[in-house]
Amino acid sequence: MVLRFDFFQRLNEIVTSHHAMQGSNEFEIGIAEIDLQHRQLGHLLERLKESTEKQYGFAANAILAELAIETRIHFAVEESLMRLLSYPGAEAHIAEHRRLTEQLEKFRKRAQDFDISDGLSGFIQTWLIDHVNMFDRQFVAHFISKGVDPHAVPRPD
Ligand SMILES: [Fe+2]
Ligand SMILES: [Fe+2]
Repeated sequence: MVLRFDFFQRLNEIVTSHHAMQGSNEFEIGIAEIDLQHRQLGHLLERLKESTEKQYGFAANAILAELAIETRIHFAVEESLMRLLSYPGAEAHIAEHRRLTEQLEKFRKRAQDFDISDGLSGFIQTWLIDHVNMFDRQFVAHFISKGVDPHAVPRPD
């Protein structure tokens, strides 16, 4: 039997143990600002899961709309960094972002007409966690070698 991966439990562990385990767990890649954006996306997905479980269709659609905006910003940040720092894997990574954006749009359309709770865990797994682990993690060494400060975080407002 394949054990089901409990994303939200893991996300919670990661957030609560962030300071103790910085950079040493599966979800964090070790560049603070990008990790922060990933956590924000994870938080939106957590809210999406909650609203789906409670069958709040309107809320789920609003969260998916917010997720689309935040994702566009996040992908643009990563893509700019990859281009500016001449990352060799940029083309394949950007193509994967396009694929994920299309997947999100399809998921949003489905959410407007159907209950999305069945496919939600799989969507979160492939859409956020697999991408972070298979793609984002690969640019870390290159970015740091080109001078990115892994500890730099945005100033509070
Ligand atoms: Fe990415
Ligand atoms: Fe990312």
